[in-house]
Amino acid sequence: MSNRIVLNTISYHGSGSINEIIGEVERGGYKHIFVCTDPDLVKFGVTSKITDLLSKNNIPFTVYDKIKPNPTIQNVQDGVAAFKACNADAIVAVGGGSSMDTAKAVGIIINNPEFEDVRSLEGLSPTKNHAVPTIAVPTTAGTAAEVTINYVITDVEKQRKFVCVDPNDIPAVAIIDPDMMASMPKGLTAATGMDALTHAIEGYITKAAWELTDMFHLEAIKLISQNLRDAVANKPEGRKGMALAQYIAGMGFSNVGLGIDHAMAHTLSAHYDTPHGVACAMLLPISMEFNKKHTGERYREIARAMGVANVDSMSQAEYRDAAIAAVKKLSEDVGIPAKNEKITEADLKILAKDALADACYPGNPCEATEQQVIDMFRQLM
Ligand SMILES: NC(=O)c1ccc[n+]([C@@H]2O[C@H](COP(=O)([O-])OP(=O)(O)OC[C@H]3O[C@@H](n4cnc5c(N)ncnc54)[C@H](O)[C@@H]3O)[C@@H](O)[C@H]2O)c1
Ligand SMILES: [Fe+2]
Repeated sequence: MSNRIVLNTISYHGSGSINEIIGEVERGGYKHIFVCTDPDLVKFGVTSKITDLLSKNNIPFTVYDKIKPNPTIQNVQDGVAAFKACNADAIVAVGGGSSMDTAKAVGIIINNPEFEDVRSLEGLSPTKNHAVPTIAVPTTAGTAAEVTINYVITDVEKQRKFVCVDPNDIPAVAIIDPDMMASMPKGLTAATGMDALTHAIEGYITKAAWELTDMFHLEAIKLISQNLRDAVANKPEGRKGMALAQYIAGMGFSNVGLGIDHAMAHTLSAHYDTPHGVACAMLLPISMEFNKKHTGERYREIARAMGVANVDSMSQAEYRDAAIAAVKKLSEDVGIPAKNEKITEADLKILAKDALADACYPGNPCEATEQQVIDMFRQLM
């Protein structure tokens, strides 16, 4: 038995760190950059923070921005065509999980063209070659896609999101600059931050968790509970704390997996286009309640990291409830809705089936029956 850790080769952190991009492009000797981003980021002047730097330094680039939240197979295939058309030799991904995930899929397919259908990359992708060299610049503080070996694509035809897991997709360089996240509106800051909390909690209780990932996840939980409210209030210290916290959570979960919360969240997004972070967050207290009997002492440490006092004098039942209550309180404080009114009784069976087929489900600390998953989804109605 061995435990594996895959991380970026280089990551830069802190306000102003986007300036490092020029040195990295020069070090790589890249001739033409494919900037992978989304239309709103172009519209709101977030992408231009990077393209202005490239222009100023006479680095040729082409912008590809046909990416929607919960990106589709079509978004990836259009990206592959655009990459080929401009003869690029490196990718700079600027955006949230949607832009970074699309960039990963494009970079993988360019160097492994036998997977151009995209669907065949689902699960543990058997690619032979590393993706095109990629520099990832997150503009949300949640997914940590800049440091994970995963990407998630929506199959519109089959109404499913599928997860691809592949160490060949990890961006060589990640630039985590909280200033790139400062333009996020409150709701997006809250949702993406709760996505990061879900990564940290699911990663901490997942089957494959071990000492090194426990260290990352507990630190991430602590930083998120200390900083998410301030980030939602757009305070620079809060932004800085969340930028780091979500990255640390990514260092962990990417290497050990997640659980039923993400499996169910992917299903909600595939059927109703629910934003990923909102889906994760509304399910978090429900999935924690479902899993609690299979987590030993772990909820005591989650409660402690969330800032709950006197956890050492609590009974098992008390600290488990306290951990769930602390998560609920944070979720309420940052304005996450508790219900998803799009779910219908008629959909419950297919939602449960899809969740149980998701690549994140096997990481859950216990098994769930279809009926139990239906009951969990029903709590959102
Ligand atoms: N690869 C992974 O390991 C991983 C992990 C978790 C989630 N995901 C995936 O990532 C996707 C979600 O990504 P996300 O939550 O980061 O959101 P996103 O990338 O879907 O972006 C959501 C919206 O926010 C806008 N936005 C992003 N940054 C902004 C900023 N700084 N200012 C203003 N607007 C901004 C975007 O333009 C977009 O309209 C989902 O598809 C999810 O499945 C991937
Ligand atoms: Fe997530």
